[in-house]
Amino acid sequence: MSIILVKNNKGGVGKSWLTLQLGHALALLGKNVLILTSDSQNNILDFSGIDVALGDGLESWVTKGSGDIVRLRDNLNYIPLSNNNFSKIFRNKVKERIILLKEEYDYILIDSVPTLKVDKEFEEIADIIVIPGFMDIVTLQGVNKILESVNVKKVKAIIPNRFNNTAYEKILLEDFKAILEGTDILLTSPIRQSAIISNLIAKNKTVWETNSKKIESVQEILGSVLEVILNEK
Ligand SMILES: Nc1ncnc2c1ncn2[C@@H]1O[C@H](COP(=O)(O)OP(=O)(O)O)[C@@H](O)[C@H]1O
Ligand SMILES: [Mg+2]
Repeated sequence: MSIILVKNNKGGVGKSWLTLQLGHALALLGKNVLILTSDSQNNILDFSGIDVALGDGLESWVTKGSGDIVRLRDNLNYIPLSNNNFSKIFRNKVKERIILLKEEYDYILIDSVPTLKVDKEFEEIADIIVIPGFMDIVTLQGVNKILESVNVKKVKAIIPNRFNNTAYEKILLEDFKAILEGTDILLTSPIRQSAIISNLIAKNKTVWETNSKKIESVQEILGSVLEVILNEK
C-alpha cells in the first residue's frame, strides 16, 4: 500500500502519460489502483481513451466524502478534477481524505501539477516520489533543489523522458548520473521521444496493450521503476 507522486514543475515532460503507464502496470499485476490528479485538464482520460462528462470529482471527494470514479481499465480507477481553484477547506482536508481512500486501494498514484498550492500536501502524504524529466539544465536544477529538500528520502526514481539523444542531452545525462551517485535513487535509461509512443497514445493504448517489439525497451524501463515501487513496503 503506497501513495506514489509523479511530479516535476515542468509541463510536457510526461507526468500524466507515465502515471497512467505505471498505474496500468500495477493494475495488470492484480493490484487495485486509483489515480488522482491536480490537473483539471484530466489528460489521463485522453490517454486512456475514456470520454466522460466531468461530474463531481476530487473536489467532491475531499469536501463531501463521495463523488465520481471513472473506470479506466480492470483494477484501474480514476478520480477526475473539474476545477483547480482549490478552496481552503479542500487544502485542509485533502490529506485525511486520501489516507481514507488508501484503505480501499493497493496503490494510489497522483499526477501532480506542482505549481498548485496542494503540492505540499501531496508531497507530505506520498510514500514514493517519481520524477520524469527532460535532460536539460532546468530539470537538473529542479532535481538538485529536491535533493536538498526535506522529502528527498521519498524520491525513488528519475525517468528521463522524450529523450532525443542529442550531444547536449547526453552531457546532462552524465551530470545526472554524477549528482545521483551515492544516493539510492534509480536513474532509469532514457525513454526516447518516439513516433511509436505517439502512435500508441493516438490509439489510446498503454505500452502494455501492444505486442510491438519496438516498445519492449520502454516496458523494460518502466519495469525497473515498478520493481522499486513493489519493493517499497
Ligand atoms: N516518450 C514519449 N514519446 C512521444 N510522446 C510522448 C512521450 N512522452 C510523452 N509524450 C507526449 O508528450 C505530451 C506531454 O506528456 P504529458 O504526459 O501530458 O506531460 P505532463 O503531464 O508532464 O504535462 C503528450 O502529448 C504525450 O502524449
Ligand atoms: Mg499532465
